[in-house]
Amino acid sequence: MVMKLGASIVICIWLLLVILSPITESSSSNDDSNPAVLDTDGNPIQSDAEYYVRPAITDVGGYLTLIDRFGNGSCPLYVGQPNVIVDNKISIKFTPFIEGETVIRENRDFKAVFQTLTTCVQSTQWKVGEVDQESGRRLIVAGYDEGIGGYFRIEKGNLGIYNFAWCPLDVCPNCRLNCSPVGAFIIDENRNRLLALDGNTLPVQFEKANDVSSI
Ligand SMILES: *[C@@H]1O[C@H](CO)[C@@H](O)[C@H](O)[C@H]1NC(C)=O
Repeated sequence: MVMKLGASIVICIWLLLVILSPITESSSSNDDSNPAVLDTDGNPIQSDAEYYVRPAITDVGGYLTLIDRFGNGSCPLYVGQPNVIVDNKISIKFTPFIEGETVIRENRDFKAVFQTLTTCVQSTQWKVGEVDQESGRRLIVAGYDEGIGGYFRIEKGNLGIYNFAWCPLDVCPNCRLNCSPVGAFIIDENRNRLLALDGNTLPVQFEKANDVSSI
């Protein structure tokens, strides 16, 4: 009698697990539908690694870095490309908005943070900043933003080439967003290129940073 009861409890638990497991699986796996963004070695971009970002097609401008727009040490710093290709690239860490996700996927929101220290009090996180008066384009600046302004994503173009975009639909699915790809243009007399929305598109590649610097 005791054994029979024990056996039926085991069967009941087993049945429950069989019934429940496909449900829990399918409800948590919809994030996996978007392909991973690949680095220059063909490996998925990982949230716990660091990457240098460089222009994909043309050799216009260098690796993405922090730009002192006026060249006078003013803050905040801007996200952009230096005029000359010098070795001042800064690695970037991408953190997915979706909790527990370890891979950066196409059209999924993440935070991008330069892995460096600056003399500015602002964070080195990318965020949508001020509108440039002349062009009317929204510039990407360095600064802390927990809201929709602080999340970007990576899109894949027709030729299989990636670009950044701002369209934080994971963060705010019901927001009416003025979505835009991220481009780059020359704004200052120093001929640096600043990243901005509302214009051209900058094709990029991701190069894994091998030795992670600990400043
Ligand atoms: C740097 O130059 C810009 C533009 O000329 C000016 O608005 C800003 O106040 C200057 N900042 C400093 C710290 O000198």
